[in-house]
Amino acid sequence: MTIMPSKKIFILGVNGFIGSSLAWKILNKTDWEIVGMDLSSNKIEHFIEHERFKFFKKNILTDKDWIESQIKECDVIVPLVAIATPTLYVKDPLRVYELDYEANADIVKKCDKYGKRIVFPSTSEVYGMCPDSDFDEYSSPLVLGPIPKERWIYSCIKQMLDRLIWAYGNHGNLKFTLFRPFNFIGPKLDDITAPEEGSSRVLTQFAHNIIHGKPIKLVDGGIQKRSFTFIDDGIECLLKILENKNGCADGKIFNIGNPYMEFSIKELAEMLVELFSEYPEYAERAKNAKMESVSGREYYGEGYQDVPRRMPSIKEAENILGWKPTTDLRTALKLTLDYHLLKKDYELVGISK
Ligand code: UGA
Repeated sequence: MTIMPSKKIFILGVNGFIGSSLAWKILNKTDWEIVGMDLSSNKIEHFIEHERFKFFKKNILTDKDWIESQIKECDVIVPLVAIATPTLYVKDPLRVYELDYEANADIVKKCDKYGKRIVFPSTSEVYGMCPDSDFDEYSSPLVLGPIPKERWIYSCIKQMLDRLIWAYGNHGNLKFTLFRPFNFIGPKLDDITAPEEGSSRVLTQFAHNIIHGKPIKLVDGGIQKRSFTFIDDGIECLLKILENKNGCADGKIFNIGNPYMEFSIKELAEMLVELFSEYPEYAERAKNAKMESVSGREYYGEGYQDVPRRMPSIKEAENILGWKPTTDLRTALKLTLDYHLLKKDYELVGISK
């Protein structure tokens, strides 16, 4: 393994899907220290006592002075607190604005004030309905729908933050890297027990429905496609960005996605049902699983508009970081189901492919 010089990383939202996996990998693969904050700690209990990890129960909206003191103290800041669920873009756009934009813009400004390095989560959503066959960080247009289609508030906010960071980086003191996750999936994506339809992203929602004998809802027939990325692959890439060998990631934007894992939502549902049947306790539920088509408007509301296809170009990550995803969809789904159905966590027992 390469030698990674020591550093102190501040992760806001360390108990989230990306935050918890990132912290775990940093502790296992580097000698870096982490200061982590979040509202709760259920996903990080297995390492909360680690000697290089300090956890603080804090709120990004109210604990601003404390956050500023940590930004001052740490070398790299990774702000992962955000609402990233399409249902909420449509149902509660003002909360999305307050948390995703206002709170994060404040952090960007503080990082600039102290001349720090920010590694910021942009999103695949910024490309919106981009017509390109694959989305390029530096040449693809970012295409959003009309204002009444409130789904786009998240994309628009993230785009504005990307532009703000880019401007501070080029005209201020900020050092930065922007990364764009493409449909990361894995065990800790969303709460599988959440009962409200649409409250989770697609994989967790489908698994929840199969477990509870509810029909799988295919929005507009499920013909829309996504390129799914297993969380562990994505985190490997993030680690290389954080390592920033010879400053290679400075001032850059990276798509983090898996172009070899493009599937329609219907294909995802079918593969999931097939995999459920391999778990004896759930075989009957898999046999009885039903799929029905619903319109986007019916499922999410008037303000919804979909992305028909979302394919990343990962040339930048391949050429500059030497990264490539390696996990196929079947393995990713199996590891996710092992976690939920067998309580087997790949982070603790390893991955056998
Ligand atoms: C997601 C979220 O906006 C963010 O988490 C993130 O920034 C981005 O994509 C990403 O992960 O790259 P989206 O892919 O539309 O957006 O979100 P999902 O909830 O995972 O839905 C994927 C597709 O499945 C959509 O077309 C949706 O309509 C469909 N879907 C979802 C169903 O057909 N049925 C369901 O029950 C749920």
